[in-house]
Amino acid sequence: MRRVYCDHAATTRCHPDVARLIYEYLVNEFGNPSSIHAFGRRARKGVEEARQQVADLIGARATEIFFTSGGTEADNWALRGTVYANRAKGNHIILTPYEHHAVLDQAQALEREGFEVTLLPLEPETGAVTEAALVAAIRPETILISIMYVNNEVGTIQDIKGLCAAAKAANPSVVFHTDAVQAAGVIPVNVKDLGVDLMTVSGHKIYGPKGVGALYVKKGFRFQALQVGGGQERKMRSGTENVPGIIGFGAAAALAARELEARAAHARAMRDRFLAGVLAMDGVTLNGIDPRVSPERRHPGNANVSVEHIEGEAMLLRLDMAGIAASSGSACTSGSLEPSHVLLAMGCSRSIAQGSLRFSFGQENTEDDVDYVIEEFKKSVAFLRKLAPTGL
Ligand SMILES: Cc1ncc(COP(=O)(O)O)c(C=O)c1O
Repeated sequence: MRRVYCDHAATTRCHPDVARLIYEYLVNEFGNPSSIHAFGRRARKGVEEARQQVADLIGARATEIFFTSGGTEADNWALRGTVYANRAKGNHIILTPYEHHAVLDQAQALEREGFEVTLLPLEPETGAVTEAALVAAIRPETILISIMYVNNEVGTIQDIKGLCAAAKAANPSVVFHTDAVQAAGVIPVNVKDLGVDLMTVSGHKIYGPKGVGALYVKKGFRFQALQVGGGQERKMRSGTENVPGIIGFGAAAALAARELEARAAHARAMRDRFLAGVLAMDGVTLNGIDPRVSPERRHPGNANVSVEHIEGEAMLLRLDMAGIAASSGSACTSGSLEPSHVLLAMGCSRSIAQGSLRFSFGQENTEDDVDYVIEEFKKSVAFLRKLAPTGL
């Protein structure tokens, strides 16, 4: 059966060059980077080269990169590491309601521990945060702001530079974190230009391995270690390094930096072809920023659409039977029939949110694939409408 993968925001296929390098570090260069013998030294060299590659991808210094087990750990750490180190300054945290659960659930846990959390209003339909809304929420006791750079469900690209500058003008001691898991390696990202203090990145969204990510921690502010033990990652995150994963992440970051523009152009062409096909249908609507109007404000490969009177999950199952992989909501929450918290936060109705489907296009997709997806999408809609003509 034909298989078409349109779920690159959930994860990507590991690039074969990256996979080969990972194999090398699993089987041949398997030393512990903390060992002083040659095996250890070679592993250390590999890890430090990878650190530089990840740093280069986001315009950081290598000493500001701390490897983690992925985006989730980096998000969790960004929040907890900041608020406990800066508790003397205040107890107030600001977020958007459409953050990844790695941020939202950590903030909820901190709320139970006595911190106060404000969720910013989002602009309806686009999901953008305005500087005015952010500044209005900032107080003298605000210690942390966390705003996602590129949203994983609807692809909205926030103006992180503007928001960060406005936040620092309102309260210079505030720490600004951005979850850039869907941004780094997809759009140009430079931490110095953005002005952020903390940034989360992950390997498996950019043709690297799963289970590895990093937190950028700008030099010079109070931040707490994640775990203690052997003192790895400059005593900030103890535990023997995931050397093959880190090497793979570094290689994937270097490839992404080199191919950034070509990859974005390809994903954009596939996404736009898909949208032209499905938005011409009756009852199919686009969620989020219209990339035909403002392409620079949306992830190049992201399409999020709703089909009137049809559940997204039902569509997914039909498409899966045709070998097509897409997603409803984020992969981490699929399996639950709760409508997407992102679309609800953007003011969509429950039925639009429940009918939503995310297609995220990537390097392996061809025009022929996209035409097949459009055709199967139309067949699935026709089938499900016949089955439940009265709708939801
Ligand atoms: C925006 C965002 N943040 C965080 C994560 C979690 O990253 P990881 O899967 O590396 O833990 C994801 C992955 O779905 C994501 O899309």
